Amino acid sequence: MAKKTINDFNQMVDNGEKIVYLTAYDYLTAKMEEKAGVDMILVGDSLGMVSLGYDTTFPVTMDDMIRHCSAVRRGAPNTFIVGDMPYMSYQTSNEQAIANAGRFIKEAGADCIKLEGGGPMIAERIKAIQQAGILVMGHIGLTPQLMGQIGGYRAQGRSSAAAMKIVNEAKAVEAAGAFSILVEGIPTAVGKAITERAGIPILGIGAGSYTHGQLLIYADMVGLYDNFTPKFVKKYANVGEVLTKAFKEYTEEVRKGQFPVDSEHTYGMNETEVKEFLALLDK
Ligand code: KIV
Repeated sequence: MAKKTINDFNQMVDNGEKIVYLTAYDYLTAKMEEKAGVDMILVGDSLGMVSLGYDTTFPVTMDDMIRHCSAVRRGAPNTFIVGDMPYMSYQTSNEQAIANAGRFIKEAGADCIKLEGGGPMIAERIKAIQQAGILVMGHIGLTPQLMGQIGGYRAQGRSSAAAMKIVNEAKAVEAAGAFSILVEGIPTAVGKAITERAGIPILGIGAGSYTHGQLLIYADMVGLYDNFTPKFVKKYANVGEVLTKAFKEYTEEVRKGQFPVDSEHTYGMNETEVKEFLALLDK
């Protein structure tokens, strides 16, 4: 299957086809997601919590993101990949933002980058990165990198004034040149209003069913990450339980001497070679 492009995503929106978007952080998962036929993979800075064991996304560095994004690219060579700009990789200046966005394309093989926020400074960054020739996806609503300012990891836009603020941010992000926007953790009515007014694909995570596409963090939807599960997650599998059971069985079998079984899991040696070997040992 050929890798989808911005034209395909716009066409999908025109045809009323939903865009399927999922996170991945490593080679094996990316390989399975490509096999499953997802349209777009986000190498999110949620990497920090899902794969690196931090409590937040703040400690994630550009080098972490590049390393994992490259692995995802190797696993999913024919899937559109979004590289997530980590905390403080774009806030300082347009130059910093362009340089780091460029690393995603040049070193990790990403197709576009994503950054959080909808204020005037972010609009300026989006414009600068876009003018440097790089596709930009906006991210508004529940934006974890702005956790302090939005009052923690909680749904946004639940009052009419807060909802209007997010609708206006979507307009500003689109006007700045984003090719698409991810809206996170907002009421269905707000997700619908943004989607109906947008001229670009709107992707949602916890933003209801009206957006042009849906994103989930893969480790949430397969039951691998259980530290915290947001309300909007549907669990499609319980891989965490399956793996823990396998690790337990292995532990028990090794302790009891039941694994490995020499006739099944080890390398054999010709009888004559064994005899000669034992004789050599005794010399
Ligand atoms: O980092 C990430 O995975 C994200 C999603 C939570 C939207 O940005």
